[in-house]
Amino acid sequence: MEIRDQLIKYLAFGWVLFSLWSCQHVPEHQPDNSFTFVKPPHFPEATYTLDKNPITEQGVALGRKLFFDPILSRDNSVSCNNCHQQSRAFADSPLHPTSIGVDSKFGIRNAPSLANMAFLKEFFWDGGVTHLDFVPINAIESQVEMDEKLAHVVEKLNAREEYRQMFKLAFGIDEITSPYMLQALSQFTALMISADSKYDRYVLYGEALSANELRGLELFEQKCASCHSGELFSDQTYRNNGLSTVFGDEGRARITESSEDIGKFRVPSLRNAAITGPYMHDARFKTLLQVLDHYDGLMVGSSTLDPSFKNGNEVVGIPLTEEEKAKIIDFINTLTDYTFISDDRFRNHD
Ligand code: HEC
Ligand code: HEC
Repeated sequence: MEIRDQLIKYLAFGWVLFSLWSCQHVPEHQPDNSFTFVKPPHFPEATYTLDKNPITEQGVALGRKLFFDPILSRDNSVSCNNCHQQSRAFADSPLHPTSIGVDSKFGIRNAPSLANMAFLKEFFWDGGVTHLDFVPINAIESQVEMDEKLAHVVEKLNAREEYRQMFKLAFGIDEITSPYMLQALSQFTALMISADSKYDRYVLYGEALSANELRGLELFEQKCASCHSGELFSDQTYRNNGLSTVFGDEGRARITESSEDIGKFRVPSLRNAAITGPYMHDARFKTLLQVLDHYDGLMVGSSTLDPSFKNGNEVVGIPLTEEEKAKIIDFINTLTDYTFISDDRFRNHD
């Protein structure tokens, strides 16, 4: 009996030692991908030029610091995070329907979510910027956003020892220049991939959706996916979905200067849409139900209205019953990615 007890003790002790050892060695078996760009298997290829700006842990740390630092604005009062908040999938707070910049100036547009930027071909509601690296120039120099000059931001950064060290670590440079600053911001935003919603787990691992969510998905595929298509939930085209008859903000026409593009805006992704309200380029709708009521019966005609919303000359929109609207909303709710909005990598570390 005694010998057996001893043996059990030794075995138990051995087991504890083994557990401790294996705990410590987990990282060796599972490489840490936190700062590697990993395309979700169901996503299209990335459009961001990762080979010209490979993502590194130091680059992301620097991009994150810049993103949360109001030093990028004229009076050091506004950071990127003012208008792009993690709890909103990096869209703006619902308290600011359109964005608010330096001196509390109001912009005319609703700040979009920054999820999955590495997969977009063009940026902004009108596609006015064609490379992710150039987006912050607009934000920094826009009078209704940060109202600062790029060159002056670089000067301010060079005067800070902490930034000089971080740029040295990330890029091996002694003097900070604007292209590197833009690349660091892009490393941070390119890493913001949202692909772990309930819907993603349904697609990737067959996790169950409820009957209502599944019916919502089916309705969505029939009635919405011609524009909100694919895994990004946008075909990245510019369309007029019947919000107005006259457009103060001409949308795509501001870039192309073509009258055929007046009132056309980029089809937005609907990932995380349940938490990115208010909706549309001008933030006119507070809730998803208001959006669906718009598609169902409140659309108005104009010469550029998308042909799919017309029957001959008549504006028909997308007829939906109240029950169908509720199910589509149930489905849109499955696109909320709680992993993304609580991901420690995207939180302010200062
Ligand atoms: C004052 C509010 C505000 C600030 C500050 C701001 N943004 Fe934005 N951001 C916007 C708005 C509004 C848009 C949409 C602009 C448009 O469509 O004309 C936008 C668009 C973007 C986009 C493109 C999104 C898309 O779907 O096309 C990116 C990327 C972005 N911002 C990153 C940044 C970064 C990085 C910073 C900091 C350097 C920043 N923003 C600062 C309001 C802001
Ligand atoms: C013909 C193309 C088209 C179809 C079909 C379509 N949409 Fe849209 N959707 C758009 C465009 C374009 C916008 C942006 C319009 C703007 O802001 O001026 C938009 C905006 C939205 C928004 C606001 C998103 C945001 O971030 O502001 C939601 C939500 C939405 N659509 C849901 C739906 C649903 C649900 C359906 C199906 C019932 C649908 N859409 C059908 C083109 C379309």
